Amino acid sequence: MKQFLTLNDLQNFDAQVALAKEIKANPYQFEELGKRKTLGLLFFNPSLRTRLSTQKAGRLLGMDVMVMNFSNEAWAIEYEDKTIMEGLRSEHVKEATQVVSQYCDVVGIRAFATLTDKEKDESEQVLQKFIQYASVPILNMESATAHPLQALADALTLTELSLPKKPKVVLTWAPHPKALPHAVGNSFARMMEHQDADFVIANPEGYDLDPRITKDIPVVHNQAEALKGADVVYAKNWSSYDSYGQILRTDNEWMLTPEKMAATNNAAFMHCLPIRRNVVVSDGVLDSPNSKVIEQANNRTFVAAAVLKTLLS
Ligand code: CP
Repeated sequence: MKQFLTLNDLQNFDAQVALAKEIKANPYQFEELGKRKTLGLLFFNPSLRTRLSTQKAGRLLGMDVMVMNFSNEAWAIEYEDKTIMEGLRSEHVKEATQVVSQYCDVVGIRAFATLTDKEKDESEQVLQKFIQYASVPILNMESATAHPLQALADALTLTELSLPKKPKVVLTWAPHPKALPHAVGNSFARMMEHQDADFVIANPEGYDLDPRITKDIPVVHNQAEALKGADVVYAKNWSSYDSYGQILRTDNEWMLTPEKMAATNNAAFMHCLPIRRNVVVSDGVLDSPNSKVIEQANNRTFVAAAVLKTLLS
């Protein structure tokens, strides 16, 4: 594997999850693999889990790790070619990427969607420019349209739940006061292609994800109907895709509550975090034994280590 931008880059999805499980059981077994190799993590947006778990993953493999916040520590980067750089942007991505490539053996990048320019977001400008000029593998730590490390961690978490043979899994939109990207929902939907499950997406009218992502997945606009008999409920907010980046409703009708979860088959509750309590989900659900959010975050380390191992190998 030369890069990890989406789940499609994995040669064998199940083998990658199995490797993560193996690393979780015996975390230091590959600690010689990354010795004298450097992992560079470049953040254009905030992070808690991705930043710390990917650093930890690199260290489990024996790598040196460098982290940089591009939003406030680095020179502002210019991405357009043939520009006259008279404005605020001091460094072109062409030099920045080649320089970073000299210092690192793998480079991770987090660059969210702008949610103002659909075409630009879908072109994955930041990620693609780094790929164009980098001479080392690039690791997607959440881009405009995908969060594959989160989806892999979610897949590992699913393997750890006591579920029926063909579980019902519901990805439900939930409220949020800010416009959020589609990356987590997109990658979760893509990840579910690898599961033998009855998978349903529930979201209000106007919030359908990109149809190229949802393809033939059932999308319903009635949350109560979707939750009936669910074995897993994955909550996530995203802004409108059709009215790109817009917030279309501000009520709390779609917030997950114990009353709503009572219609499920004692479902596990999942969310990628960070989560806004009593906005996305009520305390009663998040603090219940059915909540798997802390374990999901824990699993980020082991899937990142598995992906780094594959990139280094
Ligand atoms: N789930 C996730 O990616 O968390 P962070 O934004 O804190 O990295």
